[in-house]
Amino acid sequence: MHLRRIGDAKVGAIGLGGMPMSIEGRPDEARSIATIHAALDAGVTLVDTADAYHRDAHEVGHNEALIAKALSTYGSDTSEVLVATKGGHLRPGDGSWTQNGSPDYLRRACEASLMRLGVEAIGLYQFHRPDPDVPYAESVGAIRDLLDEGKIRMAGISNADPDQIREANDVLGGRLASVQNQFSPTFRSSEPELRLCHEMDVAFLPWSPLGGISNAAELGGRHAAFREVAEARGVSPQQVALAWELATSPVVVPIPGSSRPDTIRDSVAAADLQLTAEEIARLDAA
Ligand SMILES: NC(=O)c1ccc[n+]([C@@H]2O[C@H](COP(=O)([O-])OP(=O)(O)OC[C@H]3O[C@@H](n4cnc5c(N)ncnc54)[C@H](OP(=O)(O)O)[C@@H]3O)[C@@H](O)[C@H]2O)c1
Repeated sequence: MHLRRIGDAKVGAIGLGGMPMSIEGRPDEARSIATIHAALDAGVTLVDTADAYHRDAHEVGHNEALIAKALSTYGSDTSEVLVATKGGHLRPGDGSWTQNGSPDYLRRACEASLMRLGVEAIGLYQFHRPDPDVPYAESVGAIRDLLDEGKIRMAGISNADPDQIREANDVLGGRLASVQNQFSPTFRSSEPELRLCHEMDVAFLPWSPLGGISNAAELGGRHAAFREVAEARGVSPQQVALAWELATSPVVVPIPGSSRPDTIRDSVAAADLQLTAEEIARLDAA
């Protein structure tokens, strides 16, 4: 797989999103481990997770622990794998997602993620979502302190608007490594953030790049242009979507979620799918 850059790290152009393996509807652990191992076999070196990727209230960090287990049982060197986790979102167990961006909380969350991942420093730590009750600079200031202390190697943010991206980069002293926002054929309203990341040479990680867990299978049904390009190329519409996202900018690194070896293998093949300028223009306009 060709490589892209996140801060000072080189990663395969397609990453793996861990969320479907830990929230409602997740598969058993054996299938999840097989999925992560299939991703590594295919050249994936970016795995996205979060402490909030769990189902029940008592199992915070389910996905982080799963990824740590999959890496430790892989049987080959995984030192090049960048595990990107997040803090600042919580799941109280009633299906809702809440926020806590207070510096004290973020520090405790990061310490707990370090333990679960079994590392001395987290490769990429992302502030999951702005907390309306805490000034953004205070939350990002906590991430900066973790960076300065060496508890995290790189700092990222998620669900941020252009002003927040600039503010975060200032608070971090120019060390913002990544922005993770929703972006897919269905959801394109993060284009201003994507363009800003391109200008700033900051990695942009589209989340739900296939439209989300419950919509991904229907991507071709919902988007005729993606289905038609896929049929002409003899590939899946999901591959076309990921290749189209990769074509938007060299800073883009999609993180399709997966809970089956077959789907992540199919997604990885998007890294080798070169769309023509005509195809890209058609998909842009779709
Ligand atoms: N920062 C945030 O606020 C935020 C929010 C949401 C998600 N995320 C991150 O972004 C990642 C991706 O988003 P997502 O998981 O919500 O949605 P997604 O990537 O758009 O869709 C995930 C679903 O796509 C299916 N899929 C994957 N590759 C496929 C292929 N080649 N062909 C057909 N189906 C395919 C998978 O099915 P199977 O399960 O059957 O394999 C999976 O359940 C998450 O896992 C998480 O790491 C971040």
